[in-house]
Amino acid sequence: MTDAASPARIGIVTVSDRASSGEYEDRGGPAIKQYLAEVVTSPFEAVACVIPDEQLLIEETLRELSHDDQCCLIITTGGTGPALRDVTPEATEAVCQKMMPGFGELMRKVSLEKVPTAILSRQTAGICGRSLIVNLPGQPKAIKECLDAVFPAIPYCIDLLEGPYLTTDESKIKAFRPKK
Ligand code: MTE
Repeated sequence: MTDAASPARIGIVTVSDRASSGEYEDRGGPAIKQYLAEVVTSPFEAVACVIPDEQLLIEETLRELSHDDQCCLIITTGGTGPALRDVTPEATEAVCQKMMPGFGELMRKVSLEKVPTAILSRQTAGICGRSLIVNLPGQPKAIKECLDAVFPAIPYCIDLLEGPYLTTDESKIKAFRPKK
């Protein structure tokens, strides 16, 4: 069990056949890690992995990060498009008890201001146990574009899941918590 004194855990999952086989270097996972290091000011540790586009393996990885590692937040990158091997949203839906469609809607909206192909991402988000899972596209530059849009709502979402109290560097991301 994580207790109040232990750092929050955040899972980072790169879903890519080519990065997982070593055909190219994973750039998405490190970009997410760097984003979190710049934005999150409360103690946390990242649990990162790189896996191929295999639905059952993605599901197993998400469940492990949620149940065993007790990650309050799990961010995936890749596998959200229309290509035959893209199955990250399906795996996310399969492990979640609740879907959070607002995340995907907002990320597509802001991404569309950058690239017309933003609509090709089926990225979504949902709740698996007490973890919030958020899908990002595989393009490393999409990571900041998407996380900047949704991150203000993430700490409060984790509060509602009775997870750790995340704080952010307010010069970068102002976490919004409705006044009680
Ligand atoms: N969103 C942002 N912000 N920036 C991007 O470059 N690429 C798009 C889309 N969303 C992109 C983006 C493209 S080209 C595709 S095919 C889809 O994300 C799916 O990408 P994925 O399969 O790597 O997840």
